[in-house]
Formats: sequence, C-alpha cells, structure tokens
Amino acid sequence: MSKYIGILTAGGDSPGLNAAIRGVGKAVLGHYGMHIVGFRDGFRGLMENRTAPLDGGQLSGILTVGGTILGTSRDKPHKMPVGGKILNMLDTIAGNYRDNHLDCLVCLGGGGTLKNALRLKQMGLNVITLPKTIDNDVAGTDITFGFDTALGIATEAIDRLHSTAHSHHRIIVVEIMGHRAGWLALGAGIAGGADVILVPEIPYDVDSVAEAIRARARGGKPFSIVAVAEGAVSKQDLAAIAAARAKGNKSAKLKDGRKLDDQEADAAELLYADRTLRLAKSLEALTGLEARVTILGHVQRGGAPSAADRLLATRLGTACADLIAKGTFGVMVAAKGDGTRPVKLEDVAGKVKTVPLNHPWIGSARRVGTNFGD
Ligand code: F6P
Repeated sequence: MSKYIGILTAGGDSPGLNAAIRGVGKAVLGHYGMHIVGFRDGFRGLMENRTAPLDGGQLSGILTVGGTILGTSRDKPHKMPVGGKILNMLDTIAGNYRDNHLDCLVCLGGGGTLKNALRLKQMGLNVITLPKTIDNDVAGTDITFGFDTALGIATEAIDRLHSTAHSHHRIIVVEIMGHRAGWLALGAGIAGGADVILVPEIPYDVDSVAEAIRARARGGKPFSIVAVAEGAVSKQDLAAIAAARAKGNKSAKLKDGRKLDDQEADAAELLYADRTLRLAKSLEALTGLEARVTILGHVQRGGAPSAADRLLATRLGTACADLIAKGTFGVMVAAKGDGTRPVKLEDVAGKVKTVPLNHPWIGSARRVGTNFGD
C-alpha cells in the first residue's frame, strides 16, 4: 500500500518554504510513488480539514517563489482561537489526520512548530519537521532555510544605508529581525560592515555605543551604522525591568518566554516598545550626530529564496521523503554539513539556538573593530 503524506507550513513565512514543499512533494510522488496532500494555513487548516491538492502541476514553478503556496498561521493545536474562544483542538486534528488516512504529517516551521509537532507526536501521530526560519534560531540543525536569503536582504540594505549615512554625517540605526537570537543581525552586521552590532545575547550599554560612535567621529568618520536585532536590549532597560520585578509578584509570560510579573510585563512591553527609536534618540543626544532609524521588518522575509536556501530546502525535503520511506518518524530533519540527520523532536522542541558569546563570528567582528555595546 503506498503511503499518504500530509504537509503544512506554520509560523512566520520565509523564503525557501515552497522549495521545501517541492522537495518533499516531488520525492514523495515521483521517486517513492506515494500520495501527498497539503493543508492550508498551518495547523488551523489541519484543524478545519482545509486541504490543497499537490499531486498535479502545483509543484511546478514554485522553487523560486517566496512565501508558501499553502499559506501559514501561528495558530497552535492546543490553543486554537475558535468562535471567540481558545480551545484545545488536538483531538480534532488527530481525527482529521486519520480521516485523511495519513501515514505521516510533514510540518515546515521554526521553534513554535517544533513544539506543536511534538504535541501531535505525543498524540500518536507520525510527524516529521523541517527547520525553517529567517532567524536561524532552531536548535539541533546547522542552519534553517530562510536565513541565507534574509542575510542577503539585510546586508544589501546595510550597504545602501552606508552611502546615506556618509553623505549626511549621520548615525543610521537599522533594526534587523530576530527576537530571541541575534544570528541575522550578527551575520548581516559583519557582511555589511556595521560599526556597531547589538544582539539579544549581549545586553548593551548605550554609553558604550555612544563612545564608539564618538571615537569614529574623532577619527574623521562622523557617521556610523548600528545594526540592532529586534530582541537586543540595553542594560538600562534591563535595570528598569528588574526594578519593576522587585515590586511585582505574579508572573506573566512575554513573547520571548521570559517570566515577568504583571508590572514587569507592562514595564517590559513599554520598554520593548519603540526600543530602537529610543536607542536612536539616546545616541543622537549623546553624540551630537543626527540619527535616523530604518526598520527592515518583513522585507527580510519576502521574495525569492537565494540559491543556498533553494539547495538547502531541496536537500531537507528529499531527506524527509527518505525518512518517510524508511518509516522514521517523530524527528526533525536537521542540516548537518553537506548532509542531514534526523533529530528526535523531544531533543530540540522548546530550545532556542542563541549565539554563543565565544562564537567565531563575534570574535571576527571584534577584530575588525566592531562594537557590541559591551
Ligand atoms: O520568526 C521569524 C520572525 O520574522 C521574527 O524574526 C520576527 O520577530 C517575527 O517572525 C515576526 O512575526 P510576525 O510575522 O507574526 O509579525
């Protein structure tokens, strides 16, 4: 009996998703003679049993297309918004899995998708995940598809910002995606020659950043590029949050998983809000140079995948089909060197791959004079 495979894309979209869908689909259909069906909009479409055919021409011409032909959502199987309530829909999802006679469900996603796929595994479903996110913060894999493309987009943006900063003798603060880990800001900051790189892993001192900028001005370069990750936070902000924590008692979960009490949460949300704008204003006041802000946002997630991401997504997709043929389930297909390896979902779900403080990229940046705000 040939196998029936379901596939969905969940979480933030990223370049390379369609290349991965194509890699899984073509290998499953053409090489292994199995069947495949897509589910729309992540776990929500699986819960609502909204399917998308993938056994016709749908896989042609999508290798180079950004986004996901299936659509995506951040909805969670166990906390699904339904009719104005938040419901646990795991049983409905398991029922749809069985009603579609699936032998395996392939989930393309990042950290959140890993946790959701593990929940389905614990329900007895055969699941395999592929590591996707422009943040590159998925544990257990060398790299995620989407990262290389976003790295190129952010680097090209920094290249362009150099000329306007130089012309106007300004500080340009460019915010780069990455709430939990600074891989994208670090990589693009190095590749784009940013003078300052601020990442979540290294809480920064605004005064240290300002002094680095002043030193450049004294050296005849009255302009600087500051690459700041979305999740980077100043020591000053952390002190304000700690003060709020001292007054609070209940803990509230924040986006990055940090436990704070209600007052802290308010303070932190306030502090997180407009953080990049506040940083630019502080630097302007401390250096006497004009400062401007560019927030790259979702531009980093759009458009055609790079060649490296197409190659990676295809490799991971076909390796996924190989695992299905072997009956290996409950794993993430991790990139490992030129190859791949299956990693148990239990070993990576809920983990974030942050930038180690002794990572060679940080050392390399410091050697060319980059300031990290420390
Ligand atoms: O997880 C990828 C990512 O792009 C993060 O870098 C960013 O903080 C987040 O998604 C944005 O989420 P959304 O697209 O839901 O606004």
